[in-house]
Parts: sequence; structure tokens; C-alpha cells
Amino acid sequence: MGFYDDHVVPRIVNLACGTKDMRPHRDRACAGLHGEVVEIGFGSGLNVPHYPDTVTRVTAVEPADLGWRLAERRVAGSRVPIDRAGLDGQSLPFADDSFDSALSTWTMCTIPDVARALREVRRVLRPGGTLHFVEHGLAPDEKVQRWQYRLDPIEKRIAGGCTFSRPIARLVTDAGFTMTELDEFYATGGPKFVTAFYLGVAAA
Ligand SMILES: C[S@@+](CC[C@H](N)C(=O)[O-])C[C@H]1O[C@@H](n2cnc3c(N)ncnc32)[C@H](O)[C@@H]1O
Repeated sequence: MGFYDDHVVPRIVNLACGTKDMRPHRDRACAGLHGEVVEIGFGSGLNVPHYPDTVTRVTAVEPADLGWRLAERRVAGSRVPIDRAGLDGQSLPFADDSFDSALSTWTMCTIPDVARALREVRRVLRPGGTLHFVEHGLAPDEKVQRWQYRLDPIEKRIAGGCTFSRPIARLVTDAGFTMTELDEFYATGGPKFVTAFYLGVAAA
């Protein structure tokens, strides 16, 4: 990682993902989380105020040190204990069957080998455990998809490896999860190539 990725991208993410428009989606994604939760791509902790009361502990997986520093106040003010215990969703340093739930919000777009990360998340979830997610990804319309493919190389460079065109629902089920809830929609507040959202729950 260079200076831009280490020192600039986490601040941009904190601002871009911290808008009011994102909050209802965070609320929906966090609903139903319970017990011990692993959150991949914890970022600056923007989900912390959205954890429901049924969550007892959160284990954060986040490679960006600055993201974790920007999360300090949210972590300190959290009702739920939160520890940063992993740096890479592609290789989770946890035993099989360690968590009741997992959370990923706008992270599957960025992890280089997201298929591997999803298999890891499934491995560390207890039987019956659930992955809750809200992500942007491949749009349902071909015209929008064409823009996503065109813009992917630029986005990847300026946004820490993020890509627009990942087929999120298929990636989740290909990793062995069973989709139990899925809402695909264009969110308000931006162009369709970035607001094609997948919000759902999948069972391990
Ligand atoms: C667009 S940000 C979203 C942050 C946060 N989830 C949110 O909703 O605000 C993507 C996050 O994925 C993290 N990330 C990148 N590569 C990762 C990896 N291999 N494993 C886990 N997280 C990763 C980034 O550092 C960043 O915090």
C-alpha cells in the first residue's frame, strides 16, 4: 500500500460511507445480528451505532490502520465490546465455527479475492450462522453494467481496489451460503453504476 491508499482512501471512505443516506441501509443490514459477530472491512466503525441489542461482541477485521484509528471514538462509545483481531478477510485467524453472525457493508467490492473471503466467513460461522450484508455491485441493467465495466479500472485505482461490477448475490451463493433474504435495488443519492445495491442475509 502506498501513501494514497494508507492515508487518503480511509478518510475518503469515512466521509463517503458516512452520509445520512447510508444509515437506513446499515440499519437494515444489521437487523437480526446476534451473539458474537465478525465484521469484515470494519473501516472507521460506521456500523457501530447500528448494532442491535442482541449483539454481545464484535470482532473487527480491517487492514487499514487509519480506518481503525478513525473508529476510535465509535469503538470507545460502544455498548458492545469491539476488538480488532484480523487484518484480512481472505485469511481469517479464527477457528472454525467461532461466530454466530457476520457483517459486511460495502466491502465485497474491495477485497481482492472476495470468493476466498466469503469461504473464510462461512468457515468461521457456526452452523446456522448468518452473513448480513449490504453491498454495491453489478447492476441489473445492461446499459448500467456497460458503464460499470468501463469505470472499473479508474475506480480500482482511486478507491483502494473497489470495483463496481461484482455479482454479489452469485458470489455469496457460490461460496456455499444459502440466501434467505435478498433485496436488489438502486439506492437514491448517486448514479446507478454505484447505487446498484444488494442487501440480504445468507445462512452458512
Ligand atoms: C468501502 S470501505 C467500507 C467500510 C465499512 N464497511 C463501511 O461500511 O463504512 C471497504 C473496506 O474494506 C476494507 N478492506 C480492503 N481489503 C480488505 C481485506 N482484504 N479484508 C478485509 N477488509 C478489507 C477497506 O480497508 C475498507 O475499510
